Amino acid sequence: MKEISDGFPIDFMFGAGLSAPQSEGGFREHGKGISIPDLHKAVLPNNRKEHCKLNKENVLEYMRDNCDENYPKRFGIDFYHTYPQDLQMLNKLGLRCLRISIAWTRIFPNGDDEEPNNEGLLFYDRLLDEIISNGMKPIITISHYDLPIQIVLKYGGWINPKVIELYVKYANLLIERYHKKVKHWICMNQINLLFFEMFPSIGIFKEDCEDYEQTCYQAIHHQFIACAKVKKFASTLNDPALAIGTMLADCLTYPYSYKPKDVLLSQKRNQMQFYFSDVQIRGEYPGYILRYFKDKGIQIQISEEEEKLLKEYTMDFLALSYYYTMAINSEKDTLEPSTFTINPDFKMNEWGWPHDGKLLRKNLTDYYDRYNCPLMIAECGIGELEELENNKVHDIERINFYRECFESLKLALEDGVDVLAFCAWSPFDIVSSGSGEMSKRYGLIYVDYNDKGEGSGKRIEKDSYTWYQKVIRSNGKDLE
Ligand code: BG6
Repeated sequence: MKEISDGFPIDFMFGAGLSAPQSEGGFREHGKGISIPDLHKAVLPNNRKEHCKLNKENVLEYMRDNCDENYPKRFGIDFYHTYPQDLQMLNKLGLRCLRISIAWTRIFPNGDDEEPNNEGLLFYDRLLDEIISNGMKPIITISHYDLPIQIVLKYGGWINPKVIELYVKYANLLIERYHKKVKHWICMNQINLLFFEMFPSIGIFKEDCEDYEQTCYQAIHHQFIACAKVKKFASTLNDPALAIGTMLADCLTYPYSYKPKDVLLSQKRNQMQFYFSDVQIRGEYPGYILRYFKDKGIQIQISEEEEKLLKEYTMDFLALSYYYTMAINSEKDTLEPSTFTINPDFKMNEWGWPHDGKLLRKNLTDYYDRYNCPLMIAECGIGELEELENNKVHDIERINFYRECFESLKLALEDGVDVLAFCAWSPFDIVSSGSGEMSKRYGLIYVDYNDKGEGSGKRIEKDSYTWYQKVIRSNGKDLE
């Protein structure tokens, strides 16, 4: 009989994660090309529920703009230069894994270059070696919302099947070069968030779409095919430990009331997000989405060869990001993914995100029951406005949220749910992906920069750093 774990398994990967566009900076260095996030300006504080938006006109204008201080993701937290010292802090924290992403534009500056940029590769050679020598297993996200801008301008983004080829060339190069050092690979960051983050996800301007949904679903189909091709390539490397995964932002909902209408709408909403992982892990388009396509007149171009590819090359694990949960009230919420009801039991941050660690157990169980494949918490965290007080940050909200998440996770593990890793988002304060602000702070470590990149850049351990260090040292036993 299978052994059920008592608490956290001894090899559980307590870790953390960050992405290249939010942390690296080094925008003008060593031949890097321009990617979508390099053109993001921070939203204004009175507009915090909005995300960074770009239309074609902005893109062309901002590409020519050399005032880097207006684009926080051009400087990030300067991780491109500070990583050796930063990683030492993570070593002292005791992290067992670190999720990073590779900037596509450091490797292929225009996305379609014949040859890779050697300086970009050399940077990641050094970074990965340094992560490993600091005692952490690297986990790589191949594309974290940072499509090369030339793929948008020249090819029209992921609607163009040519982009499948370009991505596969880039991804296969990385996997071939690094698979001996890196065993877990996430193809795309949060593949299901395209209706929230359409431009960063698929590189298509909404205003260019004749039929918005048709375009989105076809573009995502191209991403499914690209991931399956990458998996096909990885399986030729004869490396049994190599695992290629997909990633969802956890958007599972629950009914706001016992009313059948709430229950059914919540289930439908969940299906609309399960569809991504159903295709990638079960290997085919499920009936409920085919019906949706039929009702909406959406026609996906899919060949027999592609159907076979999806069936044969399914993903090895499911990575998740977990920030908040959503209740569904059929009197006001709809199938539109941005609609949900906030459970009044939970406190919200400035950006309107209600934090609730308790349902992590339920959601992990739902995914595991459905797919029976390893799960990874690739991101989990809480963004707050924080100030230094006497050189300290007492981030008690963060500690409380993480405590709840770890308690939940432990119960799930004890129920037999297979979770490989927990990556706190983020080890450092980094630029917010959605709002472009540095002041939405997620870190266990405070970074002294403001939204304009002004500050000393000094790193200061927050209370949550010391707390997480204790959690890791006790292998998850000491959550006090
Ligand atoms: C996830 C992204 O959606 O959420 C991260 O993968 C991001 O890149 C995180 O940082 C938190 O979102 P935000 O917008 O607060 O940075």
